[in-house]
Parts: sequence; structure tokens; C-alpha cells
Amino acid sequence: MSAIALVLLFAGVALHLWRSSAPRPPKIELPKEPPDLLFLVTANRQGKLEVCGCPGKRAEDLAKVATLIRDTSNEMQRRGATVSIVEGGDFTGSPDVVPYLLRAYRLVGYQCIALSPRDEKRLSIIRTNSDGMHLLPPSNPENLQPFRVQGKTFSIVLVNLGQPPVKDDGYWNRLVQHLQTFKQPNTLLAAIAYIDRNAAMEIAPRLRGTVNILLIDDSLPVASGEFSPAATKASKEVSGVFIVSLPQSRASVLSLMVWANSENRDSYRLEGQWIYASGRSDNPQVKQIVDEYYTKRQKELEREMQQVMKIATQRTYLPPEFCGKCHQAQYEQWLSTDHAKAIESLAEQKRMDRSCLTCHSLEFRLRGVVTERKKRGVECVDCHVELQDPTTAQMHGQRPGERPSARVVNAETVCVRCHDKQNSPNFNLQTYLPKVAH
Ligand code: HEC
Ligand code: HEC
Ligand code: HEC
Ligand code: HEC
Repeated sequence: MSAIALVLLFAGVALHLWRSSAPRPPKIELPKEPPDLLFLVTANRQGKLEVCGCPGKRAEDLAKVATLIRDTSNEMQRRGATVSIVEGGDFTGSPDVVPYLLRAYRLVGYQCIALSPRDEKRLSIIRTNSDGMHLLPPSNPENLQPFRVQGKTFSIVLVNLGQPPVKDDGYWNRLVQHLQTFKQPNTLLAAIAYIDRNAAMEIAPRLRGTVNILLIDDSLPVASGEFSPAATKASKEVSGVFIVSLPQSRASVLSLMVWANSENRDSYRLEGQWIYASGRSDNPQVKQIVDEYYTKRQKELEREMQQVMKIATQRTYLPPEFCGKCHQAQYEQWLSTDHAKAIESLAEQKRMDRSCLTCHSLEFRLRGVVTERKKRGVECVDCHVELQDPTTAQMHGQRPGERPSARVVNAETVCVRCHDKQNSPNFNLQTYLPKVAH
């Protein structure tokens, strides 16, 4: 087995930068000679189906990535390569998104889903929705589960190490022992580990001779231009472990190609490259799933909002119509004043502004919401403050002989609470009061 000599060949892997000045992602360059086996690996989706409202980031759409994967795999399959589509981890977000995401994955043709330790928290909902796709949870040496891709001349076995303890000798000894059980002639071993470059360099010597491909979770592709002199050297040192980073953005897919050497049956050539979805059209079926998710989410948000409104409206507030039932004349007079229009006269965009509504809406002051904007605003109990307590207001006038007389309005103090210098510089009780008195 140790006879496997890997010829390491790094294609230029472009750094993915968020800055808008970042160079445009390279076009996919399909090799002239198709690989025997092609892994298309996504990662780090974090439950986002698309990035809404951010111009320029639309490439992060699941529907665009789906088009990229479909196009690439169709083309490669047509040319005779075995293609395997794999999720590399950190794909879940909130639990409600998981079923939609997995439906889309199924449609695109994902075969295997490697779970990061974070994804594992959603294991039960992933299990219920994985629909035949192979699940690869992070595991210990004792319960390593393999995912096998059978190519025409050789196969690859993929295992998920999760976040392995880098310095634990015992762990690595047991791991290598277990991995040996998967080793058969013409079989390459690939491992996913959620570790960074430095940790990868540390464990590579331990894996040498056993693991052929190590997929790690690092923000810099190990084979990046910046890193290449050191990487080439390091790769030679660890001879035989091809280290490549999982894609770090939702817009990119790792294309990992493996060729068997036609002259030397035990030698393989590997090439890793991040390819980008930008500029691609939405896959209509995946787009439909994404839209379904957002429609459902919208409905849920509306339901939540209704719930909030219900709680708010349960707080007692007596609208002017309530007082008007018994004090018709005062109510009608009030209707004719600007106080009854205090919400309507706010510009549309200010009708949600709490700094305005504290004076312009009694309902807002009492409930924290505004349910009606017509015939509302500065209302009866804004001035008749003794009746602000709903119980008192409801009681008064109910039982003749026990009627608590509402005390007179102290116009000297009541009006200036709102008619302050800033909002009502011309306020003068003598001229203002007659306009609202009834
Ligand atoms: C069920 C009928 C009813 C409702 C509803 C009602 N009132 Fe009255 N209100 C009365 C009666 C009856 C009196 C006593 C009038 C009287 O004795 O002549 C009264 C007295 C008053 C007075 C005192 C008048 C005075 O001369 O002392 C004010 C002010 C007043 N109500 C305001 C309100 C306000 C504000 C509301 C709404 C929060 C309200 N009322 C709701 C029936 C009602
Ligand atoms: C809770 C706050 C508040 C209180 C208390 C209040 N007002 Fe007002 N008042 C307003 C607001 C807000 C407006 C502007 C309404 C609009 O046009 O949107 C207003 C408008 C007016 C107007 C109309 C101004 C005009 O240009 O014609 C008069 C008159 C007035 N108030 C008189 C009074 C008097 C008198 C009192 C006391 C007895 C009083 N208000 C108490 C908030 C209040
Ligand atoms: C402290 C109480 C208070 C606050 C806070 C307040 N207002 Fe007013 N507003 C008044 C009063 C009182 C009047 C009536 C002034 C007058 O006519 O003398 C008024 C009148 C108005 C009018 C009608 C005046 C006109 O020129 O026709 C508008 C519009 C208005 N306010 C907008 C706002 C907006 C927008 C905010 C929030 C940024 C705001 N108000 C916050 C008390 C307030
Ligand atoms: C801007 C302040 C203001 C608002 C708003 C207001 N009132 Fe008054 N109300 C007064 C004042 C001032 C008086 C005169 C009482 C006094 O002399 O103190 C009065 C008197 C009354 C009286 C006694 C009337 C009488 O003839 O003795 C009633 C009843 C009354 N208001 C009901 C209402 C009702 C119902 C509403 C709401 C539809 C309302 N008021 C809104 C300021 C207000």
C-alpha cells in the first residue's frame, strides 16, 4: 500500500475575498483529460438559502450553486468520469431550513453529507429528511463509518473525523489501526477534519501511508498561491497526504479530481480547485424550493406578529368611541379637532416612530402598538387624566348615585405635557383651549 506515490499537482486556487474589489472568480477550466473520479464538495452554507437584499452576493444562492454543480457533473459524466457530490459540513442553520435544504440537495444529486460537530446538533431533523443520502457524522476511531465511491479503476473511502484531538497519540494510533481495515487494493482513503492548516501539518505525518486526501476547514486553501512554496515543501515532507481546504463560501464548490496513472497502477494524480457559482443562472427547481421556504417563513412571521398584536391589544385601552357611547356631543366635537388626526398627520414613515407616537397616539402610549390610525391620536384620557385607569373609566357613570365625578381638567398642566416649547412654540392656553373645549 505504501507503494502509492501521490503526484501532487496543485492548481491555482483563487482566494475568495468578500471585498468588492476582489478579482472576479476564475471560470471553471475543465481539464482536457477528464479525471477518473471527481468529488464536488460544498461546505459552510450555514443554513442560508440565499443572501437576500445584498447586491453582488446573489451568487451565494443555493439555486446558483445547484446550476454550477449540475453543469459540471453532467459535463464530466458525459466525458466518462465518475462524479460524487458531497456536502462537507456546517450546512445547517435554524432547524426550519434543514428540510428545504436537504430536498434541494437530493434534487441536485448529493450522495453524501458529512456533518460538522455543529451540524450534529440537528442530527435528528437531518436524519428524518436525509431521504437516502448517506450521512457521515463526525466519529471516533471506534465507530468510523465509511462512505465509498466506486470508480471504474479504483475507489475512494471517505471518513469524517470531526474535530480530532491533534496531540492525542492514543487517538491517532487507534485511528490509523481502524483506517487500515478500510484499505484494500486500489482504494484511496480520504478524511474530513474540521481543523486548520497548522493542525493539518501536525497530523499529516501521523496519517502518512494511510490517508491519501485530507479535507480541512481552513480559510486559506492550503494550495493557495501565497502559501505554495511552503506547501510544496511541506507536501514533499509528508509525502502522500494531499491536503485541501473545504470551500469557505456559500458560492464556491471544491472540485477534487483524481486520475489513476495509466503506466503505474499504484500512482495517482490529484488536483483541487475551488470553482465559483457567480454569474450562473438559478436552477429553477431548486429556486422553487427556496421560494417555498421563504413563503412559509413569511407566513410564520405574520403569525408571530398577530400573536404580538393579540398580547398588546389585551392591555386595556379605551378608544374614544368607548367614551363617545355616553358622551356623544363631546366625542363629535373632539372628532372635529386636530387631536383626532394626530396619527394621520404624521408622515407615513413616522407612524412607527416611537419618539413621535408617545405624544401623537394614546393607544401607543398604553399598548405599545397602533391598531387604527383614523379617528385616533390625542384622545379623551390624554386630558381627562383621572380616567386614564381603565377600571375607573369603565366604572364611572355606571351606577347612578355612586358616580365618581371625573374631576375637571387642569388645563394649565395637562396641555403643556405635549405642547412644549419644541413641539408647540405658539402655544397659548387662552387661544388654544377654546379650539378644543367641548
Ligand atoms: C356608560 C356611559 C359612560 C361612559 C362609557 C363614559 N362616561 Fe363619562 N360620564 C358618564 C356619566 C353618566 C357621567 C356623569 C354625568 C353626570 O353626572 O351628569 C360622566 C361623567 C364624565 C365626566 C365629568 C363630567 C362632569 O361634569 O363632571 C367626564 C370628564 C367624563 N365622564 C369623561 C369620560 C371619558 C373620558 C370616558 C371614556 C374614557 C367616559 N367618560 C366614559 C357616563 C359615561
Ligand atoms: C397627549 C399630547 C397632547 C395633549 C395632552 C394636548 N395636546 Fe393639543 N395637540 C397635540 C398634538 C400631537 C397636536 C397636533 C395634531 C395634529 O395636527 O396632528 C395637537 C394640536 C392641538 C391644537 C391644534 C393646533 C392648531 O394648529 O390648530 C390645539 C388647539 C390644541 N392641540 C390644544 C390643546 C389644549 C388646549 C390642550 C390641553 C387642554 C392640549 N392640546 C393637550 C398633542 C396634545
Ligand atoms: C412632546 C410631544 C410631541 C412629540 C414627541 C412630537 N410631537 Fe408633533 N406635535 C406636538 C404638538 C403639541 C403639536 C401641535 C403643535 C401646535 O399646533 O402648536 C404637534 C404637531 C405636529 C404636526 C402637525 C403640525 C403641523 O405643522 O401641521 C406634525 C406633522 C408633527 N407634530 C410631527 C411630529 C413628528 C414627525 C414627531 C416625531 C419626530 C413629533 N411630531 C413628535 C407634540 C409632539
Ligand atoms: C385636549 C384635551 C381634551 C380632550 C382630548 C378631551 N377633553 Fe373632554 N374636556 C376637556 C376640557 C378642558 C374640558 C372642560 C372641563 C373643565 O372645565 O375642566 C372637558 C370636558 C369634558 C366633559 C364634561 C363636559 C361638560 O359639559 O361638563 C366631558 C363629558 C368630556 N370632556 C368628555 C370627553 C370625551 C368623551 C373626550 C374624547 C372623545 C374628551 N372629553 C376629550 C379637555 C379635553
